[in-house]
Amino acid sequence: MVSKNVVKLLNEQVALESESSNIYLAMAVWAEVNGWRGTAKFMYKQAEEERGHMQKLISFLMDIGEPVSIAGMKDPVNSFKDIAEVFAVSLKHELKLTASIHNIMTEARRTNDYAATSFLKFFVDEQVEEESNMEKIIHLIKNAGPISLYLADKEIGAMVGGA
Ligand SMILES: [Fe+2]
Ligand SMILES: [Fe+2]
Repeated sequence: MVSKNVVKLLNEQVALESESSNIYLAMAVWAEVNGWRGTAKFMYKQAEEERGHMQKLISFLMDIGEPVSIAGMKDPVNSFKDIAEVFAVSLKHELKLTASIHNIMTEARRTNDYAATSFLKFFVDEQVEEESNMEKIIHLIKNAGPISLYLADKEIGAMVGGA
């Protein structure tokens, strides 16, 4: 039996993942318009992934026969100073998502909700990877400096496959 509080938190997470998808979509568009093709590619993929997370949460709620409600979301930021800012904002956002996932996990464990605990493991692992990727890119950009930023952007694009 899933606790009502876990159901409430999972529904809030649906909105948060959806908001994340939009945040990354706005970054992708900004990057593409400004000629940062690698970053754009990375962020389009990121937006798709967050949408996948949202859908995963919806499916779980449906599988356990609990109500799903889709909430509205805030407008994302649409303009950035440079790609360093894009990834700094992304890391900060991922840290917020991690805290939110950990909070649901804590509640699921506290209420002996084995199904939710097992389900949430994917998200715990996913957040480790997300934070690590953002950290890596932040270092990449920092080490590149303004001269090699073009190459850093290319490498960021290559992280999600293809040329
Ligand atoms: Fe996510
Ligand atoms: Fe994420």
